[in-house]
Amino acid sequence: KKEQETTHLRPVIHFTPQKNWMNDPNGLLFYKGQYHLYFQHNPFGNHWGHMSWGHATSSDLLHWTEHPVAIPEDTTMIFSGSLVHDEHNTSGFATSPEGSLVAIYTAHIDGKKQSQYIAYSNDGGMSFTKYAKNPVVDLGKKDFRDPNVFWHAGSSQWIMTVVLPLEYKVLFYGSKNLKDWSLLSEFANQGDTRKPWECPSLIELPVEGSNTSKWVLMLSSNGSTEGYTGMQYFVGDFDGKTFTNLNAPQQAMYVDYGKDVYAGIPYNGLPKEQATLVAWMTNLNYTGDNPTFPWRGQMTIPRKLSLKNTSSGLRLVQAPAISSDFLEKKDSFEKENFNIKNTIELSGGTLFADNAYLIEAEIEVKSANKVGFKIAQEVDSLDSKKNKLETKVYYDAKKKSLILDRLKSSVKHHPQFPSVEQANYELKDGVLKLQILVDRMSVEVFANDGLTTITDLIFPSEKARTLSIFTENGKSKVRKLKIWNLKGESK
Ligand code: FRU
Repeated sequence: KKEQETTHLRPVIHFTPQKNWMNDPNGLLFYKGQYHLYFQHNPFGNHWGHMSWGHATSSDLLHWTEHPVAIPEDTTMIFSGSLVHDEHNTSGFATSPEGSLVAIYTAHIDGKKQSQYIAYSNDGGMSFTKYAKNPVVDLGKKDFRDPNVFWHAGSSQWIMTVVLPLEYKVLFYGSKNLKDWSLLSEFANQGDTRKPWECPSLIELPVEGSNTSKWVLMLSSNGSTEGYTGMQYFVGDFDGKTFTNLNAPQQAMYVDYGKDVYAGIPYNGLPKEQATLVAWMTNLNYTGDNPTFPWRGQMTIPRKLSLKNTSSGLRLVQAPAISSDFLEKKDSFEKENFNIKNTIELSGGTLFADNAYLIEAEIEVKSANKVGFKIAQEVDSLDSKKNKLETKVYYDAKKKSLILDRLKSSVKHHPQFPSVEQANYELKDGVLKLQILVDRMSVEVFANDGLTTITDLIFPSEKARTLSIFTENGKSKVRKLKIWNLKGESK
């Protein structure tokens, strides 16, 4: 049977390859006004295999142009890694004064060994030549992968973070020329060690409202444990050699409370005030069955990162990287100061018929037990019990939590897909603050000014196009509500 193209699920502003399989983001680099995004890609099919680096560029992180495969599989698979601009030609690979771009990735060799390789580009990242003396780091191990490299000004050297997944270890290497690497230190067995560690990265982030900064070590691990989240982070100091965790070793902190943020890495080439993360938006439990065609795999919205001092310590803050320039050109709906009781439909006409919108809301919760939004509903009536499909994002006053409920969000495809996500949320002055980005097959919630995020895929049917706001068991008051239609151009 020929598979049907799932056009209604193709995101409007999130990156997806035109066709075939995609997993991790690789080689994120801002260079000459362009955001480069490379990605784990199977150029020949809609499932994992033939791992190569696909390539796309964007000038605003929202509109992407896909280019030919940049590093194709050859005698090895090309696993995840990073890209740097070697501006001062430390590697000697450059053929012009502009320097070259150098990719550092894992060569996956016959399923038996993983070593770190480098390859360089002198055509702006379109094609790469492999270094003749690869590997540059080799421990003779089966599992040793995902090198992430950046220039550390403090110690005037390139720093690489790379993992021994089954030993729960991040290794730090240093190099002056990207070719010769020496081991600086290791970070082992802290935080959550229930599942193999993958895709580490280290980045310096500003602390909001101060002129200080701290270092954040991020990594991914994912498996079949129910409720397990994909990315964790540690906050600490980095002196050019060692990363020191500021928190108790066993304390685990998660980047996102949904099921679908994995293998995220930050952009190279941006100042720390513009630190930006992109992750693969899915979960290893069901990703191979996600019902999209002719592509499979999508990235999260790029997220601006910073740190905030909270009563429990420094915490990661995320904001969707969607510029006001982009939003100003879109159709929008705005309403202030109104009460809600039960369910009110917000969609109508063509305004939200595309399941692609950004909601910003400030709501006084008042007497309601639950207040929030019902997204991508396939409705018989607005009464939720009878609805066929819907995704709910709401504040639960009894649980003092933010909830994303996708039990009935999607066409059936995998038994582990339906789920309810929960994140603690202490309201400030009784007010709920939400940003919800819906882009056809995904919901990304940024709550409490970006301190709490929940990211989940959804796979609604073509008929699921209604959007409502609701309360249960009481009344709430909306102070501000603004919704931008990502597809519509305002006149
Ligand atoms: C994470 C990962 C990486 C590896 C790549 C292979 O999803 O398993 O550890 O480099 O995918 O495609």
